[in-house]
Amino acid sequence: MTRKIAIYPGSFDPITYGHIDIIKRASLLFDEVIVAVARNLGKTPLFSEEERVGMIEEAIRELPSVRVDSFNGLLVDYARSIGAQAVIRGLRAVSDFEYEFQMALVNRKLDEHMITVFLMPHEKYSYLNSSIVKELARFNGEVSCFVPPHVEKQLLEKMRKK
Ligand code: PNS
Repeated sequence: MTRKIAIYPGSFDPITYGHIDIIKRASLLFDEVIVAVARNLGKTPLFSEEERVGMIEEAIRELPSVRVDSFNGLLVDYARSIGAQAVIRGLRAVSDFEYEFQMALVNRKLDEHMITVFLMPHEKYSYLNSSIVKELARFNGEVSCFVPPHVEKQLLEKMRKK
């Protein structure tokens, strides 16, 4: 039987408990989940690709069916190159829907076989995103309930250097 492989793509700048919640849910549905860090972002990330990959690696250490990779270019091309059948995206609130819907339809236009699966994180993460976490860290706000300890440490170090 074909192994069901899903890609969970994103900026992960940095990974949060909301992302980890989605990764765990996806790992219950697929044989393999590849967390794919986008290299060619339109925005300038706070963390380098290596730092983002490293923080994810640490966060998924206890999830044997999950691994981390990074990709350049179009998501559908990367998905095809690794034999993934589905793309996972998290939907926190209605406000996410329009952009996510557009992205899912563009990806399906580019590759009709590409299935996007939307998963909802626990509602306690419905207002959480990486930008808010960075903003809090920048002004010494508490982030320990939003990111794992190793990410908090790297955030604080990064902000100290800025
Ligand atoms: O975490 P993000 O920033 O919401 O992730 C967005 C991401 C990286 C998944 C999206 O920008 C993407 O897939 N980029 C790769 C380029 C691509 O395939 N674009 C076409 C889909 S609109």
